[in-house]
Amino acid sequence: MSAEHPPPATVPPDTVPPATVPPDTVPADRGQSGLQTLPARPVAQAGLAVSTSGLAKRFRGGQLAVDDLGLAVPRGSVYGFLGPNGSGKTTTIRMLLGLIHPTQGSVELLGAAIPAAAARVLPRVGSLVEGPAFYPYLSGRGNLARIDAADRTADPRTAPARIDAALERVGLLAVARKRYRAYSLGMKQRLAIAAGLLQPRELIILDEPTNGLDPQGTREVRALIREIATGGVTVLVSSHLLAEVEQICSHVGVMRTGRLVFQGTLDELRAMGTRRIVIRTAQPGEAARLLGTLGLADVRSANGEVSAQLADHAPERICRELVLAGVGVAGLDTPRPSLEDLFVRLTGEGFDVDG
Ligand SMILES: Nc1ncnc2c1ncn2[C@@H]1O[C@H](COP(=O)(O)OP(=O)(O)OP(=O)(O)O)[C@@H](O)[C@H]1O
Ligand SMILES: [Mg+2]
Repeated sequence: MSAEHPPPATVPPDTVPPATVPPDTVPADRGQSGLQTLPARPVAQAGLAVSTSGLAKRFRGGQLAVDDLGLAVPRGSVYGFLGPNGSGKTTTIRMLLGLIHPTQGSVELLGAAIPAAAARVLPRVGSLVEGPAFYPYLSGRGNLARIDAADRTADPRTAPARIDAALERVGLLAVARKRYRAYSLGMKQRLAIAAGLLQPRELIILDEPTNGLDPQGTREVRALIREIATGGVTVLVSSHLLAEVEQICSHVGVMRTGRLVFQGTLDELRAMGTRRIVIRTAQPGEAARLLGTLGLADVRSANGEVSAQLADHAPERICRELVLAGVGVAGLDTPRPSLEDLFVRLTGEGFDVDG
């Protein structure tokens, strides 16, 4: 959490009504992989807590870390910003918060341009970006007091109550007097989130808040995010694991080498997977041949199971054809790929980092 706060807000409190706008639906442009790719047209700006257009960052070494990014985070959503190591998540988040300048493109947070309106908008945004700066020799409470004091929009008279409320929310009240350097990694992450909760926020941006946490810590941070979101606050949370955010997100954006390869609701991601037909039979050779004859693509046979892409074919008709051809059908299923499978297909498999 950045300890730096912009100059005092000079505008009245935000009066934007809560989200009533449905999530933007974007035309499904199907690429070679059969997966939905980015919308070709810019997404409407209304009702978005975060939107970027043509956002790009080329670092001095020449590397294009973020390329033509069109993020659209609906207000009130919990948006999982996903992608493998090096795919550009942190670079994007740093541009969103005005910490680094884009090479190209524009950013809007809560409807205002960043960095132009940063001083006005950032007080309404809580954030956790890699390596929060805390003093190791101060306690958790002491660190929050320092951050709170640096916020010129915060009333010093109500500071103790505000700080304790934030500590309470992240479950750190019992260890509030412990020095930061004696905190576990999980406690440090929570303190960073607490720093973002000192003030009421409309948008919380968390860069890998579960990084380095054990399963228990991960569950707790997840519950905390869910709790934050129930108040109508928009949350953008990055992760390199879909499984880690799947249970809390309404929307996802998937990055691969600096580009968004999918953006939409979790249901839209699920619906993208092309169904296959899987037939269990004692005559796999015959079955495979017949599926080919019927025009099914990508026919595969293994372990007494024959499968193919179902596309528009009716499974009951395929079953009838098989039986008429004398192929015994012991089992038939039409599974969709799991979200995890889709995610791996979108981001690419393999151990090597992108970029
Ligand atoms: N300051 C910098 N100078 C040069 N290259 C950088 C800089 N910061 C990031 N990069 C490069 O930009 C690419 C994107 O990095 P970024 O940190 O945004 O990825 P990420 O998705 O956050 O990865 P991770 O999951 O590991 O946190 C990487 O190839 C990285 O090496
Ligand atoms: Mg990162």
